[in-house]
Amino acid sequence: MKVLAFAATNSKNSINKQLVIHATEVLKSELDSNVEIEILDLNDYEMPIYSPDRQNEDGVHPLAQKFFDKITEADALIISFAEYNGNYTSAYKNIFDWASRIKMAVFQDKPVMHMSASLGPNGGASVMSIANTSAPFFKADVKASFSVGPFSEKFDTEAGVLKDAELAAKLRDGLEALVDAHYKDVKIAS
Ligand SMILES: Cc1cc2nc3c(=O)[nH]c(=O)nc-3n(C[C@H](O)[C@H](O)[C@H](O)COP(=O)(O)O)c2cc1C
Repeated sequence: MKVLAFAATNSKNSINKQLVIHATEVLKSELDSNVEIEILDLNDYEMPIYSPDRQNEDGVHPLAQKFFDKITEADALIISFAEYNGNYTSAYKNIFDWASRIKMAVFQDKPVMHMSASLGPNGGASVMSIANTSAPFFKADVKASFSVGPFSEKFDTEAGVLKDAELAAKLRDGLEALVDAHYKDVKIAS
């Protein structure tokens, strides 16, 4: 099983990236030791701000195609959303806008776990709601979603693990749903 994971932010000290790394570690150590994990850094996909004129002049940016292809190659996705003013970060939205010009079904029917983390008590619940509500349009098969906030209360940054038992259980359940979705598909295909 190949899993693509990323934090939807370009911050180098991202709390969402810490959460994504923790999720992939739990997946590998507790649920599927054979899992192949790739963690993307959105800084590697920085492009000019999407504009129809740019697309008309030069076509879809090659980094958008690269991002789209990474999703094609994956069996499942783990995404953790940073919240800026109740919405996506511009770093993520730009990549997403470019990728959606290749195909609106950006997530290509892959099973996805959505997370969000913020320093405040809502844990990025607004951006999570946007991601969950729009998921069907972009063919993301959202198997689980949960928000983590205030991050410093719920996450042990020294150990790099969720310290909140309820959230830790949600994480495990979400990962299990991804693994089940993949191996069910493998069974149907064989
Ligand atoms: C421009 C900007 C807007 C923000 N807006 C929100 C917000 O709407 N809700 C929230 O909970 N936190 C907000 N924050 C705080 C972020 O959640 C916090 O910076 C968090 O660390 C971002 O996640 P990251 O570290 O993974 O990039 C905002 C931060 C910035 C820089």
